[in-house]
Amino acid sequence: MEKLDITPLKYENDKLMILDQTRLPGEEVYEEMSTAEDVWDAIYRLKVRGAPAIGDAAAYGLYISVRDYQGDMEGFRSLLKEKRDYLCSARPTAVNLEWALNRMCSKFESLFDDTCQNAETAVDEAKAVLIAEAEKIKEEDMEACLAMGEYGLELLKPGMGILTHCNAGTIATAKYGTCLAPIHLGQERGYGFKVFADETRPLLQGARLTAWELQKAGVDVTLICDNMASLVMRNGWIDAVVVGCDRMAANGDGANKIGTSGVAVLAKEYGIPFYMFVPTSTIDPDTPTGDQITIELRDGDEIWQMWYEKPMAPEGIKTYNPAFDVTPAEYITAVVTEKGIVYPPYNENLKKITEGNK
Ligand code: MRU
Repeated sequence: MEKLDITPLKYENDKLMILDQTRLPGEEVYEEMSTAEDVWDAIYRLKVRGAPAIGDAAAYGLYISVRDYQGDMEGFRSLLKEKRDYLCSARPTAVNLEWALNRMCSKFESLFDDTCQNAETAVDEAKAVLIAEAEKIKEEDMEACLAMGEYGLELLKPGMGILTHCNAGTIATAKYGTCLAPIHLGQERGYGFKVFADETRPLLQGARLTAWELQKAGVDVTLICDNMASLVMRNGWIDAVVVGCDRMAANGDGANKIGTSGVAVLAKEYGIPFYMFVPTSTIDPDTPTGDQITIELRDGDEIWQMWYEKPMAPEGIKTYNPAFDVTPAEYITAVVTEKGIVYPPYNENLKKITEGNK
């Protein structure tokens, strides 16, 4: 996959660089992140986005928040906790943010207990452990994506028409993507998929990112407006729908980009399989159903004026701009994880696959 040379973030020469996805497809610009505030802002503004990539960025972000600390272990511990809570507040829906930050803190807690409070060298050791853990989180994300790509290919046949919503691709993860991983692998193996990318209003992740990423990889991709999904399904052009996920509840309800649930309802109506790609880091056993998932509400400007030279709605219009919706488990044909494909009943089968994760 040599054409897939783009990564959403890199840590090189002690610098965290983030690809500013708000400038795509026009410009490929990496911005240096020097503080916790830089990383918080990059996540909040969707410079880095997509559940796994948000987790990866937060893990590195936590490290850079504490790397210049000079002092004793007690101060280090409380700074780590403070920055963990701060970074965790950037966006509420993708569980990977909280998951990655908790994993960093648990690693620290497992190695540095209260007995090493004043050992100066322990602070340096703790910093080294944290950067190593961030690297590991990113590495594991990439491996999980490759595995999901292989499992995904078990469900897809050469020549299929595939619809996707939002961007769960290489720039939403460490590499390869979740639901776009089988498409990238298939491209390499001559599967000849015909992909339809929903533009994904209001932030246009489908148009700006998926269309760009797949075109760059040489995939046959057609961009459609969100309201054209029903027609292309009715035309018989879609054999499968593949989407990512931001948080999957224990019962299999999955939150993903706004509009995903509508695509799932349509797919069921037209008898098209609907596959959700969910690394186990995105499964949240502490959230029983989709009703308990917090849905991020964003500024209404994104709907009525952000992309236009002139506002496309009257000044002062009331708006409602939820960033995600929940697809009920009954609409999801299968959940593809890095550990295998999970079928209903999800309550039981997701539990089996996530055992030992916590
Ligand atoms: O608001 P975004 O762009 O962060 O939303 C991204 C999505 O909804 C993705 O489908 C999801 O995070 C999975 S990314 C592998």
